[in-house]
Amino acid sequence: MSCRIKTPDSVTKKLKKKEREVSFEEAVQTLNDIAGIRVVCFFCDDIYRIADAIKKQKDFHIIKEKDYVKNPKKSGYQSIHVIAGVPVTYNDTVTEIRVEIQIRSFAMDYWAELDTQMCYKKDAGQIANVERETRGYSDVIAKVDNKMLELRQQIEMM
Ligand code: GTP
Ligand code: MG
Repeated sequence: MSCRIKTPDSVTKKLKKKEREVSFEEAVQTLNDIAGIRVVCFFCDDIYRIADAIKKQKDFHIIKEKDYVKNPKKSGYQSIHVIAGVPVTYNDTVTEIRVEIQIRSFAMDYWAELDTQMCYKKDAGQIANVERETRGYSDVIAKVDNKMLELRQQIEMM
């Protein structure tokens, strides 16, 4: 599990890209991922187990869930995203802070990290062939993840 807080530079970039005003209030109101948590697990069934456990938590509520494992993005990106609203008390005032929780397998994480370096947020026109290939490797990774799960289940039956 890892976590990160978006840097002010990155917050500014994202607000500009979304054609929003660059201000603290606008960032807190419109961005889901100023605070981010990533959970990486061994097997692809663990992803749903972790997502379910998160959804059962009583101390925060779920704002949104996106299942890019069942329905990968056009890029090939696979992950489950849960946007949670977490109450934070500061100077007697309770503010709800949104946290983006990304849950995926090690294989999906490997793919996403390389995709971030090579394609994501880059000019797609120049790297169309790279995007096509990485999309294909995303399918390969999904197959390997499923094969490994099958193997584990076979071993559990023995
Ligand atoms: P933002 O991307 O946060 O503007 O909102 P969104 O509604 O597009 O959210 P989405 O759930 O699609 O993506 C949120 C985060 O997921 C991104 O900030 C990335 O960390 C990750 N992500 C989404 N798509 C891709 C992708 O194609 N490649 C990689 N490497 N990461 C992705
Ligand atoms: Mg996005």
